[in-house]
Amino acid sequence: LSPARAAEGGASPLVIAHRGASAYAPENTLAAVDRAAELGIRWVENDVQRTRDGKLVVIHDDSLRRTTNAEEVFPGRAPWKVKDFTAAEIARLDAGSWFGRAYAGARVPTLDQFVHRLDRHRQKLLLEIKNPKLYPGIERQTLKVLNDEGWLDRPHRAGRLIVQSFSAASVRTVHRLKPGVKTALLGTPPMSDLVHYARFADQINPSHSSLSPAYVSSVQSFDGPHGKPMKVFAWTVNDARTARRVAGYGVDGIITNRPDLVRKAVGG
Ligand code: G3P
Ligand code: CA
Repeated sequence: LSPARAAEGGASPLVIAHRGASAYAPENTLAAVDRAAELGIRWVENDVQRTRDGKLVVIHDDSLRRTTNAEEVFPGRAPWKVKDFTAAEIARLDAGSWFGRAYAGARVPTLDQFVHRLDRHRQKLLLEIKNPKLYPGIERQTLKVLNDEGWLDRPHRAGRLIVQSFSAASVRTVHRLKPGVKTALLGTPPMSDLVHYARFADQINPSHSSLSPAYVSSVQSFDGPHGKPMKVFAWTVNDARTARRVAGYGVDGIITNRPDLVRKAVGG
């Protein structure tokens, strides 16, 4: 553990199920949320994008091809971009069979369906706005869906929601639109830029491969927009050795496809 964390009593990092418990169920589906809940995992990460008719859906790639049967159902519509399909068309797709026969018929959830399921399990959400350049206005729209679902009410937003993106512009927009919502910038910006990001990002969430103890301490030495030390969640850590290494650096959270394995390695 880092000196700072040891001084705090050595709290274990949070464990966040990446795209749900995505080593055990198809990523970004309700089944992956359920699997995380069965494992007792409170935090779930997801990826949000937008359909042709303006509905927010939970899917990682900008194409439907890898994680659904779009190629089979809609031949001739290559390259099967999410933004070129309506919500009704996407709702017809099988988002589970690619992962395993047991998951045949799993769907690409809409954002509201996804948060309903989190509500059912009383889970928390690390929401990634994916490819925001493809979807102008997606920040405002995401916040509207969350608001409509009660996720921006004071008791909820306090400890239950973090919105992240690789796009600093997107993170800044979320902060400007709803300053009470916690935000995170994905990536590993230079330490010299942290003072700038601390104005609108509560966290920096880097790849584990780019991390060092000095980087973690540097991020945590800045106060974020809510006057609290900035946090660090590392991704995507799927083995015990790496989990123990980044926990030793003092990270605040570990984003993983195998939340049970990471929790066993580092506690949390
Ligand atoms: O939450 C961190 C991680 O999800 C960022 O990368 O490609 O899995 O969305 P990616
Ligand atoms: Ca993600």
